[in-house]
Amino acid sequence: MIKKNNLKIKEDYLKKIQIYKKYNEAYFNKSNPLVDDNVYDNLKNEILILEKKYPFLKDKESPSLNVGFKPSKNFKKVKHKVPMLSLNNAFNREDLVNFEKKILNFLNLERSDLLEYSAEPKIDGISASLFYKKGNFIQGLSRGDGVEGEDITENLSTITDIPKILKGKNIPEEIDIRGEVFIQNTDFKKLNEKFANPRNAASGSLRQKDPEKTKKIPLKFIAYTFGFSKNLNISNQFQFLKMLKNWGFKVNNYNRLIKGIDNLIKNHSALEAKRKEIDFDIDGIVYKINDFSVQRRLGFVANAPRWAIAHKFSANKSISEIINIEIQVGRTGALTPVAKIKPVNIGGVLVSNATLHNEDEIKRKDIRIGDVVIIERAGDVIPHVISVDLKKRKKSSKKFDFPKNCPSCGSSTIKEFNKITKKFDAVRRCTNDGYDCEKIAIEKLKHFVSKEALNIEGLGKKIVENFWNLKLIRYPQDIFNLDFDKIKNIEGWGKLSVANLKFSIEEKKNISLSKFIYSIGIRHIGQENAKLISKTLKTSQNFFNLGKNNNFDELLNIDGIGDTQINSIKEFFLNKKNLLVLEKLKENLSIQNEKENSKNGILKEKTFMFTGKLEGISRAEAKSLVEKNSGKIISNVSQKLDFLIIGEKPTVKKVNHAKNLRIKIISQSEFLKMLDIKDF
Ligand code: IVH
Repeated sequence: MIKKNNLKIKEDYLKKIQIYKKYNEAYFNKSNPLVDDNVYDNLKNEILILEKKYPFLKDKESPSLNVGFKPSKNFKKVKHKVPMLSLNNAFNREDLVNFEKKILNFLNLERSDLLEYSAEPKIDGISASLFYKKGNFIQGLSRGDGVEGEDITENLSTITDIPKILKGKNIPEEIDIRGEVFIQNTDFKKLNEKFANPRNAASGSLRQKDPEKTKKIPLKFIAYTFGFSKNLNISNQFQFLKMLKNWGFKVNNYNRLIKGIDNLIKNHSALEAKRKEIDFDIDGIVYKINDFSVQRRLGFVANAPRWAIAHKFSANKSISEIINIEIQVGRTGALTPVAKIKPVNIGGVLVSNATLHNEDEIKRKDIRIGDVVIIERAGDVIPHVISVDLKKRKKSSKKFDFPKNCPSCGSSTIKEFNKITKKFDAVRRCTNDGYDCEKIAIEKLKHFVSKEALNIEGLGKKIVENFWNLKLIRYPQDIFNLDFDKIKNIEGWGKLSVANLKFSIEEKKNISLSKFIYSIGIRHIGQENAKLISKTLKTSQNFFNLGKNNNFDELLNIDGIGDTQINSIKEFFLNKKNLLVLEKLKENLSIQNEKENSKNGILKEKTFMFTGKLEGISRAEAKSLVEKNSGKIISNVSQKLDFLIIGEKPTVKKVNHAKNLRIKIISQSEFLKMLDIKDF
């Protein structure tokens, strides 16, 4: 009797397994789910319950053993329709005040109580972008470099929190849902794999090519924003979060709608206190302006939105001892002291180095070799020394003697005088101007191939160092003339890896002007400044001509580029080695001219200048409005000017000059009318 019953149970079980297999196949192999997520999850659950109740039940297709897919070996690269940006960080009240002040200035608002924020815990996981068409999950991408991600659809499909079909109302025709993939701490503890922390485990699992390993790691997903969308009719973030829930996503239970910095801080402290109780790692709170129309007005700076910021939690701390102080030489010649410490585990990561920032910092804190110190590690930031335990200092300890010569090339070092702050720089620098100081040269090469610059895959920091030691590279251009026959014979390299490297170098020869300007590593010219310069100069020829004509006037009018940057560019072009490098790079690269925003905007071929205070709109926003609509901003009244826009208390001299030249003088409202904007 019992046996007969068991037979029936087994039959029932196998039937369920067959259906489960059919669902999996339709979903994973054909990307065409047969049933709603709920039905799938219920079935899976029923199978697992049966297995638990009747241990004799087992099948190789069981969900307890199988994830149902085999991802391809190489992930396809796919461009994000809308880039995946990063966030600026805030660590204290002052940072928040500055953040809000900038927003108020940009919007020309005086009252901060008009600003409402969506405050969302910042999960320390891996972000992913999920593309849904007509409510069906079509493709999932990793963040990659923010512009281009990897197609990890199959891996993401194994995550039960990710709905394969959206439910509910108001589903847009197309939408990229973005959120965080992570692993819960309790699940992490159960893992046998040796990952330093849950984040690494999630990342490793997402990019796992062997499904046998992936299936062991229970990944979760929480949604929080979107990229590209078509027919999405939502006007604020909180409404969007609600919508996400309706569509079947998990959203964070701790999301709050908050006004005012005091309340943001209250919420921050409360959540920080609760942090240990929450079963996943959070490293701060993201504040986003709730109103989408205000977000749109604020726009972006470089890689981060003006309308959002990540308010980090205070870092993890630990005590250790300084074994030695080493001096590193950076790309711009900065001498950075680094404390080698007795390895300590801070928040799940083994730390053995801590930055001491610069010479002044060592002096200020009187940090010495042998000192017992408190080390702090906050998120991705390099660990640093907070304070010295003077009670534990040995009598024999001596003040640290900061080297006066570059430890790499022996050149003299200086502390520059800053004309603006009228102070000497805290940083000591090697006076060698580039490629003749080994350490500077290597760092320049690392920068050149880094993710934000040329982004050459397979040419990481360690390999750059190795190639340098083998005398394979000295200058950036050498990367395009590598001796692959030699590389083939280096330990760890084979035909395939050489072919891959060759391919990625070839692939990156096509480069935008802004990335090129950034990659050559001019001091004070980061990604944002490189973008600004590229937008103004438009062609690589114009950029190269800066040096030839020794004329930098064109850069004078760029908002955001000041004396410091211009002097640095001048200095760069005065250096003969740099000119040679530029010449060679020109031969090897195909530098794309800057694409015009929208060439055919309403203000096409028109030039504008502002004078006086505008109402309800800041100067910066007004300028960006002109540029968005294909107009050009100029900063002098001349024949080239088409419109002088006057606000309150305009500069009389400018107005008179414009009158003399018969330039059209218009009011702010006339300007807004040109753009078909009624009011702010
Ligand atoms: S919004 C432009 N919201 O933080 C908007 N990001 O440093 C950027 N993150 O790459 C994303 N929780 O991986 C947003 N509630 C949240 C988030 C969040 C975690 C991560 C995300 C992103 C990084 C930005």
